[in-house]
Amino acid sequence: MPLGILAIYVALAVWVGLLVYSYRQGSYWLFAIFGTGIMALLNIGYFVNGVPDSIAFFIGIYDVLDNLGTTGAPALASCPDNACTVWGDRYMNHPSWGVAFYDRFANGPDLRSTLLYGHLGMNTIVFVLMHVQLARQGFAEHKQFHRILGRVSFACLTVGTVCAIVLAAQHGNVESYGGSLSTYGFWFMSLCVYGCAVMGVVAIKNGDHVNHRIWMIRFVGAMWGAYWLFRIMLFVLGPLLRSWDSAAILSCIWFSAPLGILIAEFVRRKLIVGREVVAQAA
Ligand code: HEM
Repeated sequence: MPLGILAIYVALAVWVGLLVYSYRQGSYWLFAIFGTGIMALLNIGYFVNGVPDSIAFFIGIYDVLDNLGTTGAPALASCPDNACTVWGDRYMNHPSWGVAFYDRFANGPDLRSTLLYGHLGMNTIVFVLMHVQLARQGFAEHKQFHRILGRVSFACLTVGTVCAIVLAAQHGNVESYGGSLSTYGFWFMSLCVYGCAVMGVVAIKNGDHVNHRIWMIRFVGAMWGAYWLFRIMLFVLGPLLRSWDSAAILSCIWFSAPLGILIAEFVRRKLIVGREVVAQAA
């Protein structure tokens, strides 16, 4: 078994444990920091190992469950020399989106990889900074710091999202992604993420702190949806929907970000608003 994949599985198991612990404690900071740490390590891997090797590693995470109990299915495909995975010859079939993903970047123009670096590099920075922003909200002595970090984050988000929009525009002929449905889905995902951020910025420009906070919490939810929920959904739906090519990936593309916003809204109403009511009553 490739050690890196084993390490990821162990880290994910620890993370589930942290989720249970956080639920009992009523504070999710430890869970969020650990998840952000795994995300950052995975994404930094692209800059250290290059795009094709990192994609092969990413596909290797999915190979295990997608191959469980089957030797072939409509949503599984093989790739030349089995180069699109870190598993050697252990798995000869891979999620078909993964085979297309590897091929797009291993055999595609350099500009495509540059766009991916721009997308994942900028979004990784935003993902980290948004937690700093949540922890140090823009009151009193943190006001100036919060304002500067907010501007830096918004600029990075803009670059990262534009790169994603351009990458997605090239999906029309990638059948195992779902073709044009993938393009429109990723654009919808961009709208969910960027739209929440823009609403938050507009609110604070109007001096509306309450709505600024509400929209930025939704933005954080959309980002978690676009990154972690997407990848976890794909992990679960891959084997479940393997009888239909591109069904799993399209479900993740279309539903992960709005689901993230819904969860953030739920948490905001239940946890944060609830705590404020208790604090005011005390
Ligand atoms: C605005 C929401 C997002 C959109 C529309 C989006 C879109 C995309 C697209 C189109 C690709 C390339 C697929 C291809 O062209 O073959 C991609 C890959 C990737 N994106 Fe995003 N993305 C979003 C959010 C994020 C976030 C928040 C992060 C990181 C914090 C992220 C990190 C990555 C990474 C690392 C990859 C490479 C696959 C992997 O190793 O996970 N994306 N994304």
